[in-house]
Amino acid sequence: MHGISSAPAGAASQIFINNEWHESISGKTFPTYNPSTLEKICDVQEGDKPDVDKAVEAARAAFQRGSPWRQMDVLNRGRLLHKLADLIERDRVTLATLETMDTGKPFLQAYFIDLEGCIKTLRYYAGWADKIQGRTIPVDENFVCFTRHEPMGVCGAITPWNFPLLMLVWKMAPALCCGNTLVIKPAEQTPLTSLYMGSLIKEVGFPPGVVNIVPGYGPTAGAAISTHHNIDKIAFTGSTKVGKLIKEAASKSNLKRVTLELGGKNPCIVCADADLDLAVECAHQGVFFNQGQCCTAASRVFVEEQIYPEFVKRSVEYAKKRLVGDPFDARTEQGPQIDQKQFDKILELIESGKKEGAKLECGGLAIEDRGLFIKPTVFSEVTDNMRIAKEEIFGPVQPIMKFKSIDEVIKRANNTEYGLTAAVFTKNLDRALTLASALQSGTVWINCYNALYAQAPFGGFKMSGNGRELGEYALAEYTEVKTVTIKLSQKNH
Ligand code: NAI
Ligand code: MG
Repeated sequence: MHGISSAPAGAASQIFINNEWHESISGKTFPTYNPSTLEKICDVQEGDKPDVDKAVEAARAAFQRGSPWRQMDVLNRGRLLHKLADLIERDRVTLATLETMDTGKPFLQAYFIDLEGCIKTLRYYAGWADKIQGRTIPVDENFVCFTRHEPMGVCGAITPWNFPLLMLVWKMAPALCCGNTLVIKPAEQTPLTSLYMGSLIKEVGFPPGVVNIVPGYGPTAGAAISTHHNIDKIAFTGSTKVGKLIKEAASKSNLKRVTLELGGKNPCIVCADADLDLAVECAHQGVFFNQGQCCTAASRVFVEEQIYPEFVKRSVEYAKKRLVGDPFDARTEQGPQIDQKQFDKILELIESGKKEGAKLECGGLAIEDRGLFIKPTVFSEVTDNMRIAKEEIFGPVQPIMKFKSIDEVIKRANNTEYGLTAAVFTKNLDRALTLASALQSGTVWINCYNALYAQAPFGGFKMSGNGRELGEYALAEYTEVKTVTIKLSQKNH
């Protein structure tokens, strides 16, 4: 039994433009599946370039000078975002159910983590809507100079399947609070919660065209957004490979602004003096959370040699106890991987770990006869040159390495093209702060993991991305700065 298998009432499957639902211009649809049962949930209208063009036209019209959206009192913009958060709270069970069906993630995680993050992010940016201020800049005394932080215009958002609604809200909330309009393409595996958002957008009373949602595939609908000449900015979360394509498309079209949140191969450093219970549990949750499908996954655990055997032993105990199964069962900690492609990639990487000489402590296989479920897997004796130590696995696989000194672990932790997050477990303040400054990553967690807040910026160094989401920092990614300089007349003096 895998709980509910057909879409709940109110679930939308069409293209959302101008606050109306549309069929695709091509007449095509695509299926979305429940990865825990492998059953089709429903067919969704398949958007492509002509649908994206229509959505961009609507978003552009909604952004024109004098439009209801541009004329709206900024306080009311904030009010609309709060109302959207209210409706998400009202429909939280439905949204979490849809998210669980479409992704296979445990329902309680969808409800308490994804939906909680959506609501808090919307409320945080609702508060910013009337506080986006420029500066007065002292220049020559005969001049007055000030800046305006203006909305960029039409923003594209291309989102992934691991946190479908949350990654959308991370983009939508700051974009709307700054006064932009949006064209959104959700991941083809998980379009349903984003589409549900369309009906909430309409109910809240956002003017038509402010938010448009075009479900479809990456190389068609996604590329139509990244190459569009009439889109001013694009925000993307997904693979580094596609992130590069998007930046290239932006530079070949109209140099639209690009923010990218890409992969990670995140070091989690456990020093010998750490609170071992805490470190083992955080490292476990850090890598296995969301079936391992997290850009923040703790997928390189470096453990100081004195405590290495004990750390491995306890990590294996945790992994063996992890409950894998029906995401609608309240006890379930781990559901299926998102699709066959990801499932195959993970098993192939597990095989490479075995071949390259890592010690398989537990797991290492799919769960037989259970579609896309993979056993929680722990490898010890992992060395830095192995593929499982270098490539983003995006699955329930924990590679554990050994280190001897802080200088050594800093070098090894930084020896990657990625730089999204890092974690450090130690009670020694000096070590904690030395590592916090030496690690090349957008976030460093000390004695905690996945501690994400709407107020605090998130993003990557190096090939983990460009720009920052969340916090006050994200406002800069959704505004253009305009300098206004006025010469004072000398005549009346
Ligand atoms: P992907 O990067 O292809 O998918 C993310 C989004 O990009 C989807 O909406 C997709 O439709 C869109 N997309 C794909 N090709 C595009 C194109 N040419 N132009 C515009 N948009 C395009 O990621 P995929 O293939 O689903 O997963 C591959 C790997 O990427 C994963 O194994 C994982 O390592 C990584 N990944 C990282 C994520 C993160 O949170 N940073 C999320 C999803 C995947
Ligand atoms: Mg699905």
